[in-house]
Amino acid sequence: MRFEGSSDYVATPDLMLAVNAAITLQRPLLVKGEPGTGKTMLAETVAAALGLPLLQWHIKSTTKAQQGLYEYDAVSRLRDSQLGGEHGNRVHDISNYIVKGVLWQAFSAESPTVILIDEVDKADIEFPNDLLRELDRMEFYVYETRELVKARHRPIVFITSNNEKELPDAFLRRCFFHYIKFPDKETMQSIIDVHFPGLKKTLIREALEVFFELREIPGLKKKPSTSELLDWLKLLVAEDIPPEALRAKDQKAAIPPLHGALLKNEQDVHLFERLVFMARQNR
Ligand SMILES: Nc1ncnc2c1ncn2[C@@H]1O[C@H](COP(=O)(O)OP(=O)(O)OP(=O)(O)O)[C@@H](O)[C@H]1O
Ligand SMILES: [Mg+2]
Repeated sequence: MRFEGSSDYVATPDLMLAVNAAITLQRPLLVKGEPGTGKTMLAETVAAALGLPLLQWHIKSTTKAQQGLYEYDAVSRLRDSQLGGEHGNRVHDISNYIVKGVLWQAFSAESPTVILIDEVDKADIEFPNDLLRELDRMEFYVYETRELVKARHRPIVFITSNNEKELPDAFLRRCFFHYIKFPDKETMQSIIDVHFPGLKKTLIREALEVFFELREIPGLKKKPSTSELLDWLKLLVAEDIPPEALRAKDQKAAIPPLHGALLKNEQDVHLFERLVFMARQNR
């Protein structure tokens, strides 16, 4: 099984290398990178390219590792025992109240699967540690039914992180790591081509120019990312904004139209306005 890229996702050679290294090692691939650089989409793309089902687990601050294995639904069981009759008959078999989590579903699947554990850094610090054994050995024990669940096929595991929390060393040791570097102009051009085939070359050139200049402004609180550039381009096309309007020669620097797609807080907008003002004064 090898990942060779896909027609709707631009994967650089080093990213493909990392994906295939993780597949060969049979270890989870830990993917980091700025927001909007395609971490989540990578798992979707690899699953589609390899023709494997994707099981997604989106992590929140309240998510517990156990939820990925299974949960015991004690409330339903109590209700059934009170209702009696047909419901009452179910009560004796505790497995009727075990709800399978993403890992169990993947372990029991007929064919190999891809698991995405998205934004692992959102959970509390114990979360990655609690999954060490399950991800390593690909098995876990169900105490309620006294059964051992073992993976029939080792799933391909993607774990993404936005670096909000440090991950424990023991967890890192078990992963293959890849940092998605922010795309250079050429890669960005390919990403745009994938999303907007046939877009006017001049518009793309001017938009990329403005975008990368904006990212380089020192002191920006939040740099715009790939997905924000794509949003902005979509708006420029929808509003039929001509390429010249992005960078009119006579005004050297101007606030780009629809900048709300790129700049996401008032400090950054003010900073940018000040720079434009200074550029005009110096003309
Ligand atoms: N390499 C790429 N090829 C094609 N599209 C891309 C690529 N990188 C990013 N995109 C676009 O950017 C969007 C955001 O990507 P995605 O949601 O995977 O980012 P992310 O890294 O998971 O962000 P976050 O950290 O905020 O969750 C995608 O829907 C896609 O349209
Ligand atoms: Mg994501």
